[in-house]
Amino acid sequence: MNAQELIATARALVAGDKGLLAMDESTPTCNKRFAKWGIPQTEEARRAYRELIATTPGLGESISGAILYDETIRQKKKDGTPFVKVLADAGIIPGIKVDTGAKDLAAHPGEKITEGLDGLRARLAEYFQMGARFAKWRAVIAVGDGIPSRGCIEANAQALARYAALCQEAGLVPVVEPEVLMDGDHTMERCREVTEEVLRTVFTQLYAQRVMLEGMILKPNMVLPGSTCPTQETVDAVADATVSCLLRAVPAAVPGIAFLSGGQSAELASARLNAMNVRFTSRLPWALAFSFARAIQQPALEIWRGQEANVSAAQQALNHRARCNRAARRGEYSVAIERNQRAKATGVHSDE
Ligand code: 13P
Repeated sequence: MNAQELIATARALVAGDKGLLAMDESTPTCNKRFAKWGIPQTEEARRAYRELIATTPGLGESISGAILYDETIRQKKKDGTPFVKVLADAGIIPGIKVDTGAKDLAAHPGEKITEGLDGLRARLAEYFQMGARFAKWRAVIAVGDGIPSRGCIEANAQALARYAALCQEAGLVPVVEPEVLMDGDHTMERCREVTEEVLRTVFTQLYAQRVMLEGMILKPNMVLPGSTCPTQETVDAVADATVSCLLRAVPAAVPGIAFLSGGQSAELASARLNAMNVRFTSRLPWALAFSFARAIQQPALEIWRGQEANVSAAQQALNHRARCNRAARRGEYSVAIERNQRAKATGVHSDE
């Protein structure tokens, strides 16, 4: 492990006003999203979609790193250029999802454990060789009656820490993603409680496994009410709850926090990140950035629908969302920016 290189990469991932783009949907997840829009669920369609993303003009102005999936990191543009090179040439650091998915946790109905530690050392060495410089592992914590259990939180936290230590050994910056799901009718306060317990447990395990905090990125959920909770909260209330929870649980040595979007609408994810940066930036020890998949990609996917003729419009929509989130990092996102950016992207100007 070269500590200075890990620290430099971790800092570069959250530098300035850029953030990460998660384009690492597993084949089943990618196919599920394609099926919704009638897009063929083939390797070629998945390759064409990732080519659309990786070749979006100007993407590197807003995106510091892109997380790929095992299939994607081996794929190429139609002209034969590997995606890893396309991204690196655009100034985007290539990353790789290395967990093998969340499976049912034995004796814990309704709870999951993320797998993928077996053989991980060899896989990380191969990904490093292929040009990846950071990695991602997602743990999933469901909230409901009597859950999450300590058993689920501890098993997932320990797996995250073992993954993170192996990444650093291999020269890859670990993006540590413990996601408290927004499915359910729980309140924001319950999400805050669970998120704080999960984060405290994760950092205890990271410490136990000797992970260098300066050379990692945390990818948490925002603190939100469950998606079917009757009491939804304002953007500012979400920003306050999220930042106060993180301040209690995340050590100052961590260079950056890059949120997942978790099923929020693209606009709400940007507005909430913006409010955090407006209200708290001067008081925070770490950068507050984004590592969105759906909240950056969804509008582009809906426009593309698998049609070559829609590629350019879809790329403009992708770039629009990336630029909105970049503005949110600076605390400069607003409805006006949302519209102006969209007008610039689509060539349609509003009178307002
Ligand atoms: P979402 O932003 O769609 O939640 O995805 C982020 C991610 O990488 C999940 O692992």
